[in-house]
Amino acid sequence: MNSQEILEKLDRIEDLPTLPVIAMEVNEMLRDYNTSIKELSQTIQKDQAMVPKILKLVNSAFFGFRSKISDISRAVVVLGFNSVRNVIISVSIIDAFSGKKALEGFDIKAFWSHSVAVAVTSKYLAGETRLQAPEDAFTGGLLHDIGKVVLALYFQDLFRKVWASTRENKLSFYDAENREIPITHAQIGAHLARKWQLPQGLVDTINYHHAVSKSADDLNMLMIVHVADIIVNSHMSDSESEPNFSAIYPDAASIMGPQLETVSDWFPEVSEEIQSACEFFLEDR
Ligand SMILES: [Fe+2]
Ligand SMILES: [Fe+2]
Repeated sequence: MNSQEILEKLDRIEDLPTLPVIAMEVNEMLRDYNTSIKELSQTIQKDQAMVPKILKLVNSAFFGFRSKISDISRAVVVLGFNSVRNVIISVSIIDAFSGKKALEGFDIKAFWSHSVAVAVTSKYLAGETRLQAPEDAFTGGLLHDIGKVVLALYFQDLFRKVWASTRENKLSFYDAENREIPITHAQIGAHLARKWQLPQGLVDTINYHHAVSKSADDLNMLMIVHVADIIVNSHMSDSESEPNFSAIYPDAASIMGPQLETVSDWFPEVSEEIQSACEFFLEDR
């Protein structure tokens, strides 16, 4: 199979998760600047499973509001439109992929913990550098590796080959993909994001997070997620070795130089936020 055939096979998979109607609708509504709080709240309320999840999030330590928020329109006001959209997309996608039987050896929980860690770190970098709306960066971080789950669920022979190679040849997952199979999790994830009609900046971020491309629709989001991924990988691994930032794309390394230089000062605090985000997004899954 070449990469085109793999993507065609992906298009034919019948039980491939789709983005729930609500996420599509909200995504669509927020492209229209005239959408009102009332309209957005009414749309969300149509999805009765989503309502308690959003309320739980606004009332969680992750946001840390002092007074209890008990209705959706109030939640929309305090969170803001973009946050609401991001929560809905995030929760929907995590839900869509849980409950499926993944490959033995692929730890889906560890996968989502990594994704949440990159999401929170991206949000932090976006806030510090002001390159990007922090909430958008969060979603980019959360979804950057989504192609890995697709590989582990639907292309198990390819996944196994890559997995074995990471261990035998001490390669990163991405390097092993390049060596062993005709496609990468980045390309697969981008294909899926396109199918889901997610914003082009998000598609590009997924597509190029290991190999930054200047042609990306939203270069800032791409660079933030790319850097956050490398920070998380070097800080949350078990190794005691010094973080290795040599893989960072030079432009991104210079733009985020101040953050990279001080990473050991701020990362512990971000880690705590990662902890509380994991509690929200991953509990009961
Ligand atoms: Fe990746
Ligand atoms: Fe990653």
